[in-house]
Amino acid sequence: MVLKKRTAIFISGNGSNMKNLVKFSKKKNAPIKVDFVISSNKKSKSIQFLKKNKIYYKIFDFKRKNKDEKKIFEILKKRETQLICLAGFMKILSESFIKRFKGKILNIHPSLLPKYKGLNTHERAIFNKEKFSGCTVHFVNSKLDSGKIIIQKRVKINKKDDPKSLSKKILKQEHLLYPKALKKILSRT
Ligand code: GAR
Repeated sequence: MVLKKRTAIFISGNGSNMKNLVKFSKKKNAPIKVDFVISSNKKSKSIQFLKKNKIYYKIFDFKRKNKDEKKIFEILKKRETQLICLAGFMKILSESFIKRFKGKILNIHPSLLPKYKGLNTHERAIFNKEKFSGCTVHFVNSKLDSGKIIIQKRVKINKKDDPKSLSKKILKQEHLLYPKALKKILSRT
C-alpha cells in the first residue's frame, strides 16, 4: 500500500496544474493526497472545482505577507502537511517560511531552468529565437526558481509559435511532468 503524503497546493491563477494533481492524487498508487489548497486570488476559476471536490481551501491575498504566512503555517501544522506543491503560485514565499519546510516545497516553472527564471518566460524564449523551451519541476529554496531540479521536459518551439501557443503546449507537458516528479521523489518503486 502506498502511504500518501498529506499535500497542500498553492495556486494563483487558473489552477489547471492543481486540478490535474487532484485528479492524479485519486489514483490508487499516487504518492500524494491533496488535503488543502491555498489561492492567492479569490477570483481563481478553480474555487468552484474545490467546492465541488470538497477540498479544504483558503484564500490569502499576501498583501500582508508576514501575517498571511503565519496563518498559513498554523494551518499547515494543524493539518500535518507533509508536502507543498506550488502550482502557478505567483507570490514569493519568505526565506523563513521556506526554511520551515526545507526540502518539502516543490514548484513547477514553464521554462528549462536555469534558463528564464521569473516571469514572461515564453516571450523571452521566443524573442531569443530558442529552438526549445519546456518545463521544470524543482525543489524550492530561498532564491527564485533556483532550487535543485527534479525533472524537466523539452518542448520544441516552432517558427509559428507565439507566447500563447507555446504556453499551451508547455502547460500540456506540465500536466504530465508534475505527477512524474512526485513519483520520482516519493515512490519507492
Ligand atoms: C503554469 O504554466 C506554471 O508553470 C506557471 O504558471 C502557469 C499556471 O497555470 N508558473 C509560473 O510561472 C511560476 N513562476 P495553471 O494555473 O493553469 O496551473
